[in-house]
Amino acid sequence: MRTLIVPIRTARLSLREFVKSDFQAVHDYSSDPRVTRYLFFGPRDEDATADYLDGLLASQRERPRTRFELAVEETASGRVIGACDLSFIESHAVDLGYMLGMENWGKGLATEIALALVDAAFYDLHAERVISTVDVNNSASIRVLEKIGMRWEAVFRKHRRAKNRWWDCHLFVLPREVWEATRMDYAP
Ligand SMILES: CC(C)(COP(=O)(O)OP(=O)(O)OC[C@H]1O[C@@H](n2cnc3c(N)ncnc32)[C@H](O)[C@@H]1OP(=O)(O)O)[C@@H](O)C(=O)NCCC(=O)NCCS
Repeated sequence: MRTLIVPIRTARLSLREFVKSDFQAVHDYSSDPRVTRYLFFGPRDEDATADYLDGLLASQRERPRTRFELAVEETASGRVIGACDLSFIESHAVDLGYMLGMENWGKGLATEIALALVDAAFYDLHAERVISTVDVNNSASIRVLEKIGMRWEAVFRKHRRAKNRWWDCHLFVLPREVWEATRMDYAP
């Protein structure tokens, strides 16, 4: 079975399974409208945060597991500062996502997370493609995807209707062969 090996450790972070006691930390960032501005959900009230956490804890027990939504824990402080995920959208295509509380924006952390998740998607999950869709106005996230070497592939007009509006989204893709070519240490 293809599964993610967690925690994933980066220079400053540990990407680990969520636990029930993460509720307050999750609520802190996902109740902030500045954080959820370009996300299809939120800002969440306490009931919505509880439902979300229950759903993701249940997803940890699915077999085969298709959704790996992980807490972003700052190693130095042990604080949960955000979330990130890899989710299978087809048998060999994995969708990448991330969000951080606003006090941690602008420190290169999303780039650190995204690079680690891309490696895990190809190494652990044997993905053929990592994809990400991003609102056309979400410049910071677009920049993160560009920095980690993802390639713009398409724009989806009216990709989704959420929060009372249509969302135009860019599709970014990293094919396995491009990732392999840039990973000098990769041995098939
Ligand atoms: C998107 C997000 C994860 C970025 O996190 P981060 O840790 O600040 O990202 P990084 O510091 O790794 O990189 C951000 C890059 O975007 C750039 N950037 C930030 N705001 C920008 C803006 N308004 N316009 C253009 N570029 C911007 C930064 O300068 C940096 O690029 P650089 O290294 O070339 O200078 C964070 O803003 C967030 O959590 N947003 C809310 C949730 C969200 O939208 N998630 C993505 C859904 S697709």
